[in-house]
Amino acid sequence: MSAQQVNPAPQQFPNFTPDSALDLLFSVDLISPQVQAELPADLHIRPLASTDYHRGHLSVLTVLTSVPDPGEAAWLGQFNAIRAAQRTYYTLVIVDKNTDRIVAVGAVFVERKFTRNLGLVGHIEDIAVDKQQQGKKLGLRIIHALVYISENSGTYKTILNCSDHNVPFYEKCGFEKKENEMAKYA
Ligand code: ACO
Repeated sequence: MSAQQVNPAPQQFPNFTPDSALDLLFSVDLISPQVQAELPADLHIRPLASTDYHRGHLSVLTVLTSVPDPGEAAWLGQFNAIRAAQRTYYTLVIVDKNTDRIVAVGAVFVERKFTRNLGLVGHIEDIAVDKQQQGKKLGLRIIHALVYISENSGTYKTILNCSDHNVPFYEKCGFEKKENEMAKYA
C-alpha cells in the first residue's frame, strides 16, 4: 500500500456541505454541467436547500432590495410552498466552499400558457451577487444556469424585467430588449 493510500490528503473544503447531505428544492440533474465546470474550484452551484436560511440566503438578496428577516420557520414555510408547486419554481445558489456561505442567487419560474400550443415561458427573477463577488462572472453563470433549466423545462422563451442600468449586463448574457414593463403596486 502506498503512503498516499495510508494517509489520504485532508479534505480540501472541510466546512463545505455536499449536495448529498442537503434537502434540495429540485433535482441536481437540472444544474448545467457546463456552468459548474466554468466556476472556480472553490465555488459550487446547486438548488436552494432547506437549511440555506443559515448560509446567508437572505443577506445576499439585500444587494437587490429590502429583505426583512421573516424568521427561520416562515422562511422554511416559503421553501416548502415553492417545492410543493412541482416543476414550476427553481431557485439556484452559488456557494463558497471555503465558508459554506451563499455568494450568489437567482430564480426562474415556469409559466404554463394556453397560447402557443400550450407553450411554456420561463421568468427570471431575483438575481443577486454578493458585493465582494461582483464582476467575477457569477451573475452571468447564474443566468446561463437558469436559462438551462428554463429550456430543459421546454420553454419557448425566457424573459425578465430589469432597470436600465442592468440592460448591458443582460445583453452580455444573451438577452435583447423587448417591449416595456408595467407595474401596479398594491
Ligand atoms: N453595466 C454594464 N455591464 C455590466 C453591468 C452593468 N450594470 N453589470 C455587469 N456587467 C458586465 C460585466 O462587466 C461583464 O462583462 P464582460 O463579460 O465584458 O467582462 C458581464 O456583464 C458579466 O458580468 P458579471 O461579472 O457576471 O456580473 P456580476 O457577477 O457582478 O452580476 C449583477 C451582475 C447580478 C447585476 C450584480 O452586479 C448584482 O447583484 N447587482 C445588484 C442586484 C441587481 O441589480 N440584480 C439584478 C436585478 S434584475 C433581476 O433580478 C431580473
